[in-house]
Amino acid sequence: MLTVGTAVIGSLQFGYNTGVINAPQKIIEAFYNQTWTDRHNENIPKTTMTTLWSLSVAIFSVGVIDMFFFFYIMATPSFTLFNSLRNSMLMANVLAFIAAALMGFSKMGASWEMLISGRFVVGLYSGLSTGFVPMYVGEVAPTALRGALGTLHQLGIVIGILMAQIFGMDAIMGNATMWPFLLGFTFIPALLQCCLLPFCPESPRFLLIIRNEEDKAKAVLKKLRGMTDVSADMQEMKEESRQMMREKKVTIPELFRSPLYRQPIAIAIMLQLSQQLSGINAVFYYSTKIFEKAGVQQPVYATIGAGVVNTAFTVVSLFVVERAGRRSLHLLGLLGMAGSAVLMTIALALLEKYDWMSYMSIVAIFAFVAFFEIGPGPIPWFIVAELFSQGPRPSAFAVAGFSNWTANFIVGMCFQYVEELCGAYVFIIFTVFLLCFFVFTYFKVPETKGRTFDEISAGFRQAASGAEKHSPEELNYLGADSQL
Ligand code: GLC
Repeated sequence: MLTVGTAVIGSLQFGYNTGVINAPQKIIEAFYNQTWTDRHNENIPKTTMTTLWSLSVAIFSVGVIDMFFFFYIMATPSFTLFNSLRNSMLMANVLAFIAAALMGFSKMGASWEMLISGRFVVGLYSGLSTGFVPMYVGEVAPTALRGALGTLHQLGIVIGILMAQIFGMDAIMGNATMWPFLLGFTFIPALLQCCLLPFCPESPRFLLIIRNEEDKAKAVLKKLRGMTDVSADMQEMKEESRQMMREKKVTIPELFRSPLYRQPIAIAIMLQLSQQLSGINAVFYYSTKIFEKAGVQQPVYATIGAGVVNTAFTVVSLFVVERAGRRSLHLLGLLGMAGSAVLMTIALALLEKYDWMSYMSIVAIFAFVAFFEIGPGPIPWFIVAELFSQGPRPSAFAVAGFSNWTANFIVGMCFQYVEELCGAYVFIIFTVFLLCFFVFTYFKVPETKGRTFDEISAGFRQAASGAEKHSPEELNYLGADSQL
């Protein structure tokens, strides 16, 4: 618990910084305006404000693109340097401290540039976290608990978002004097993680497979499992070690060239895009503004409500995902989100006519978020690991992460502009995306529930060789009802 709990502080930081700029938008915009007026003796032009704010929001997701490079390096055959995940996590906190200082002192320095740079740096930290945390947790977890502990990453994210929303309340830190503390708060979890990490063990897999230190690995395992007989775990790790030697690492270009990986990588990319282009972060970055426009009296409370629903449904998903399966939950989630987006559009469009439409908008956003966490939230993250075996997995993570964060950036950056253009109808765009992803998932995504990694990749191998030998129609082997 200590080890996994310490690691997911990284997920929490990522979630916190995803949600933190939502509630205090108006207050920080006032600071931007003040800084601008002091420098230029005039109010900030509206378009400049939109650009600066969109940049402040979205530059965070540019930062996380470093995850791509991290996994890219990992995929190179000679890679060993960073394999000590615990130390890498420890080092990454330097970024969190720099970011906290830049954001926390931006008001004092009368500089929105500092704030925007801080958002970029905390994005770098978060990008590394979204790589390190699931891998470290996966490496220290016992096999039987790997899935459940793995989901704690997404749970850490959503709790981070919720914390940010609560701290962002006017009465706590979302006000003109306290907002620098709200942003600088990142310092505290970073400090906590730095104090706790030295008490967490090095990954036993790292000790055995990379450093070849069998005794140390055994000692760590005994401590982690709380029992003296760890031979089963040791056996499994040695098997992984043998498998790693057999299977050569696959580079990113090979992933696209080889017919073996082309279909699974297409699926991985599309699922990441479906997560982000669903419009979820339009809600987590901008919901306070959306609720305000929808005439909600206390938009910040509605935003917190969305955070609570988000957390609750992540827990629901945690319990049902092994029973209901990934494919059906993803389909249900996408369809439900599309329905909620339509409801939201109706609420916004009829707002002038009926006052109670503002309540409808709250219901619509809550439903949107709930359906997201049922499937499109957690599933794309862990299905990448399921679709690929040991050799191509790091490259697949790099490509998937890159797709995710590019789409995240596009939504964060463009939402305000598109919303200015489309008004009440902005959610229709997400509806169209959601329906397209529904169709794709229906026809192309196989069920992976209950299959071992080996069975899944064997299915792809078999299908790919069949497709090469036979007709092009058989390329359709990932069809909904095909047997892997
Ligand atoms: C997922 C997404 C992230 C989003 C979060 C919301 O982790 O990757 O972008 O903010 O869910 O819960």
